[in-house]
Amino acid sequence: MSRNAEEHLSPPKVADGESYIHASVYTDPDLFAEEEEKVLRRTWKFVCHISEVEKAGDYRTHQWTGVPLVTIRGNDDKIRTFVNTCSHRGAKIVRDVAGNMKHMTCFFHMWEYDLEGNCTYQPREEGYEELGPTKDDLSLREIRTDIFAGLIFINFDGSAESLRDYIGEAGEPFEKIFNNHELEVFHYNQTHVKGNWKAWYLTNCDLYHEWSHLVNRTTSVLTKGYHDRPWRIQPNGHGYNAHHLDGSPFQVNYKKYKSWENRDHLVFKGLAPGEFRVTDIFPNLSVFFRATCIRLNHSTPIAPGHCIMEERGLAIKGESREDRRMRTKQFVQIWGPFSRNASEDCAYVEATHACQEAGANPYDLMSRVEKFEDGVHERIHSDTYLRHFWGEWSRLMGRPANNPKNFMEAAE
Ligand code: FES
Ligand SMILES: [Fe+2]
Repeated sequence: MSRNAEEHLSPPKVADGESYIHASVYTDPDLFAEEEEKVLRRTWKFVCHISEVEKAGDYRTHQWTGVPLVTIRGNDDKIRTFVNTCSHRGAKIVRDVAGNMKHMTCFFHMWEYDLEGNCTYQPREEGYEELGPTKDDLSLREIRTDIFAGLIFINFDGSAESLRDYIGEAGEPFEKIFNNHELEVFHYNQTHVKGNWKAWYLTNCDLYHEWSHLVNRTTSVLTKGYHDRPWRIQPNGHGYNAHHLDGSPFQVNYKKYKSWENRDHLVFKGLAPGEFRVTDIFPNLSVFFRATCIRLNHSTPIAPGHCIMEERGLAIKGESREDRRMRTKQFVQIWGPFSRNASEDCAYVEATHACQEAGANPYDLMSRVEKFEDGVHERIHSDTYLRHFWGEWSRLMGRPANNPKNFMEAAE
């Protein structure tokens, strides 16, 4: 029987109140602003790979919670991140996306800053002798920056734990493999998604939507042992799925997809042929292995219903043109802008957001539980990671994700 309005707006009938969320966590502007402050500025955020700022003066501009930033390698080889606004009147200083520079020059009144953020030049600086300030008081604001396995992260919170402690055991599936090679970014693309950044991230963490991807359905889901992988839940909202419960690798049979070849050549050292792994680092970085391809996927929130998703592909530096061509082909088959999976994921996120924004869908369910016989580990089609993510979000926000604005109380 269909449900009436009251039934539809009532919380789902599930045994555990933490197995659903209220859709306002994706759409409410006040929650979005609060989330910037309590979640996004207090956790480690992925910026880019070290190969993107390889030499002194190499930089990359970006933004986080609306704050313009520039990450740059200094003459002392240290990678730093600065708030990318001038100490004079606040103009954005570095205006290109990426490049190399000897120093940073503000285009408004031509003040200059060195690669370490010191203000080094003001035209006719004697004009400040009477009232000040001195150049020493005008250096740029530095944001905490650290590197894990070649991945650059920032954190606005100066008192947060170290990046290594923050990632902890969640680095296990990828750290060694990243360190086995000198890697570089060979593929980059951005997509503006009309949906919430969390919904985008969680498409990487809800593995039973693999049924809907033709590629995954054909090459993976029906493979023997597919369901014998556990979610490995880690502190700080992280998690990964990689090996089977007995420690053996999960290998995808790419050849099953028409015209595709198996991935047993160009495999990264430390992986088995065809091996698949994914690690999810809270709040929104996913690190994928598909044997010959590494994908770094994250997004930048712009508004409750808008995020910019970024795809990076990593390859082995110095490999032959032929190998690079093959690796590129295998990457873009699944994750390129006109690929199967990434574009399908955009469609899922945008479809759900449109309904949530209209208030048509008040709750999201995450009550799937599929346990191993040990009664402890949960299989990859469980919603255990989604519950873990929302548990961490709720903890940081100080609000339950299933009733973030006290809707039930207000209705009583
Ligand atoms: S705002 Fe940058 S020099 Fe004036
Ligand atoms: Fe997907």
